[in-house]
Amino acid sequence: MSKEKIGVIGAGLMGHGIAYLFAAAGHEVGVFELSADLRASLPQRLRTIADLLGDDPACLDRVRVHDQLAPAVRDAGFVVEAAPEKLALKQSIFADLEANVAADTILASNSSAIPSTDIGRHLKHRERVVGAHFWNPPHLVPLVEVIQTALTSLEIVTRTMNLLREAGMKPVHVRKDIPGFIGNRLQHALKREAIALVADGICDAETVDDVVKSGFGARLAVLGPLEQSDLVGLDLTLNIHDVLIEHLDRTAGPHPYLRERVAQGKLGMKSGEGFRRWTPQQADEVRERLRRFLADMAKARKSAGRTT
Ligand SMILES: NC(=O)c1ccc[n+]([C@@H]2O[C@H](COP(=O)([O-])OP(=O)(O)OC[C@H]3O[C@@H](n4cnc5c(N)ncnc54)[C@H](O)[C@@H]3O)[C@@H](O)[C@H]2O)c1
Repeated sequence: MSKEKIGVIGAGLMGHGIAYLFAAAGHEVGVFELSADLRASLPQRLRTIADLLGDDPACLDRVRVHDQLAPAVRDAGFVVEAAPEKLALKQSIFADLEANVAADTILASNSSAIPSTDIGRHLKHRERVVGAHFWNPPHLVPLVEVIQTALTSLEIVTRTMNLLREAGMKPVHVRKDIPGFIGNRLQHALKREAIALVADGICDAETVDDVVKSGFGARLAVLGPLEQSDLVGLDLTLNIHDVLIEHLDRTAGPHPYLRERVAQGKLGMKSGEGFRRWTPQQADEVRERLRRFLADMAKARKSAGRTT
């Protein structure tokens, strides 16, 4: 049976990786991108992914890029929007999508923070709107949070999860459309405490990163936090929480230390300093180390036929 066509809106950082993973899984993919430069560079960017993963580049023949939305999504069963993070823009794209696809085509947004409920608010068929939050880079990180709005039908969630699973991804069902879904809530809870530790002079930023990478982070990919609690016992977790929880940071809103650094132009690797100082060479080394690590993990998963 032939696989359904996928539409991808936007061929930027996320869109090109999403297009790749569906093409590699055997789908025809139509991509809509407004920028002529990004349309022209798409084949080479896809080719770079195929080289990185050691995949047969023949799968890239299944990707067609368009300067108009209609041909990109014609006959698509699933469309994922990866356009800039602006509500009005996404609403207008979804209105265009509804006018150009079948009534049962799934319309998914890869938004990091804007609720799909708001993005699909003015559509006629809101039951087929779902969040599909991929992680960067989507062709190397398997998780996709599938976010059900109050109006999304369970059938649409199930179809989306099946499609992603068959494409080699690891979909999870988020039952309510809440800010940050699951992953970003957990990630930013950790960042909040990390920033407070540095701001309070307990340690420097490098030490925080070492503690995570060489400590509990070393096992996180095989042992989630609740699995780990089950492993050591919930009684121990409770004993620790009895002592610790009241001491954790509770600053309302973003921490002043973060605001201060942004106001000082300390934006991270792109400005040479954020929480830590970076030469361009050090920044490149981090990026390359991450890219290699994620690619090796992706190849290992693929050869073992698993998604985690
Ligand atoms: N970058 C990340 O780490 C990340 C992770 C998860 C989710 N997201 C989300 O994915 C979405 C895309 O992010 P990105 O980082 O790929 O951004 P990006 O800027 O790299 O890509 C957006 C693309 O959309 C194109 N575009 C602009 N207007 C358009 C329109 N009207 N129709 C079609 N395409 C249009 C742009 O030319 C650009 O290529 C955002 O909602 C973002 O929040 C990003």
